[in-house]
Amino acid sequence: MTESRNLSKFAVPAEELERQKEYAALVETVLQSRYPGEKPLAFVHTYGCQGNVADGEKIKGILASVGFGLTDDLAAADLVLYNTCAIREHAQDRVFGNVGKLKPIKAQKRDLIIALCGCMMQQEYVAEKIKKSYPFVDLVFGTHVIHKLPEFLYRVLCGGKRVFDLSGGDGNIVEGLPVRRDGTFKAFVPIMYGCDNFCSYCVVPYVRGRERSRDFDTVVDEVRHLAAQGYKDITLLGQNVNSYHKNEPAHLRFPALLRAVNDIPGDFLIRFMTSHPRDCSKELLDAMADCDKVAKHLHLPVQSGNDRVLREMNRHYDRARYLSLIDYAYQKMPGLSITSDIIVGFPGETDAEFEDTLSLVKQVKYTSLFTFIFSPRPGTKAALMDDPTPKEEKSRRFQALTALQETIAAERTAAMNGKTYRVLVEEPAKTDGWLSGRTEGNIIIEFPGDDGLIGTFQQVRVTEPRTWVLKGEPADPASFCM
Ligand code: 5AD
Ligand code: SF4
Repeated sequence: MTESRNLSKFAVPAEELERQKEYAALVETVLQSRYPGEKPLAFVHTYGCQGNVADGEKIKGILASVGFGLTDDLAAADLVLYNTCAIREHAQDRVFGNVGKLKPIKAQKRDLIIALCGCMMQQEYVAEKIKKSYPFVDLVFGTHVIHKLPEFLYRVLCGGKRVFDLSGGDGNIVEGLPVRRDGTFKAFVPIMYGCDNFCSYCVVPYVRGRERSRDFDTVVDEVRHLAAQGYKDITLLGQNVNSYHKNEPAHLRFPALLRAVNDIPGDFLIRFMTSHPRDCSKELLDAMADCDKVAKHLHLPVQSGNDRVLREMNRHYDRARYLSLIDYAYQKMPGLSITSDIIVGFPGETDAEFEDTLSLVKQVKYTSLFTFIFSPRPGTKAALMDDPTPKEEKSRRFQALTALQETIAAERTAAMNGKTYRVLVEEPAKTDGWLSGRTEGNIIIEFPGDDGLIGTFQQVRVTEPRTWVLKGEPADPASFCM
């Protein structure tokens, strides 16, 4: 791979990265003297979205670079790090619960380092709560200072004091950090960070900072490198990939980036997440349709089917604009698989407004949906809105929506019966001797086959179209003998 560039005004200065390399060397020495002849182990757990997973891969890369081995066994760990998510209250409650469980472990193992980072920590009230009520936590850092992990570790190891760093609120871009990828054939490549949309319910712009895009050629080089290493499923990531380089000329914007990565030689799939309907342009859908490596799957979160609710959510599109995008997308890509995120029970949503969401879902015929009950996030506009709808009514709406989607998904999968699809084989299925593969449209098909096929593309004929996980058989059984 060519040296990664960082031409952005958000670039962290090279001297700072050099300083961190010096800290990394110091930490390595301290760890060697503290654990002579053995490798200390780090247990890293990431909550939440793929963006957080990508951060987690950098954190693991840094930990490995200073001499930690990685473990999945919490009991064996010398360092426990939770990379947290703040998107809904439930996500935060889980983290508080799991951090609480570390207290007795730390009491037994005084040298254990406990570290918390990620979106949840970027909120001041959370960091304060950790400071006051969780004194056994050694290190808390926010989303903008991951590259300073070597320095934090040094201060914890040698300073004997707790370290809290939530600085860098507007965000930055750091290139060249070591990455320990979780997968060997699926990879995630962040192309931009942060979000400027300020949807009224969402905490992301507050915890991830302003929108900023990575250098075009650096992204293309990274994808080229991954393809050359044999990665088969590469996802370009951002809170809102459609606004990648939104203030730059067209040849640097997202549709151009898709075309550029599509031109990289090799047999691999390109995916992207997430698209905002506000900036989902015909140019993007044209690029998707033209690019053979780009999976024909569009995740286009609608959030609600009602115009008043969309306005209150600050989404900057209406139902008609969303549906016209969907029409255009289906027209250009007839087999397209569309998925979405929907929030039910937004403050003040009436039953009639919710019915608009149901009717939109019927019209679009999504492959699948991520559905959420509104969760008030401190600091957001929607958290201050009147919310008279009882919890039970919100649950009823949630169930009505999931039931409707289930019928739609069943109809869609029934139409797949007898047809053959190319899947990327991902893992063994629960049934012995069966594998689980994913179509480009993001549908799981299980079929009999040998573990040696994991990480390869195979043609599978659907024989049993169930609602979520379909059953199939090798379309060309000869090719399944390893
Ligand atoms: N409450 C419920 N769901 C939310 N999401 C974001 N913020 C909230 C919230 N406060 C959902 C949106 C978004 C997805 C990632 O999470 O649907 O698209
Ligand atoms: Fe949150 Fe809206 Fe930004 Fe998505 S686009 S991260 S929902 S503010």
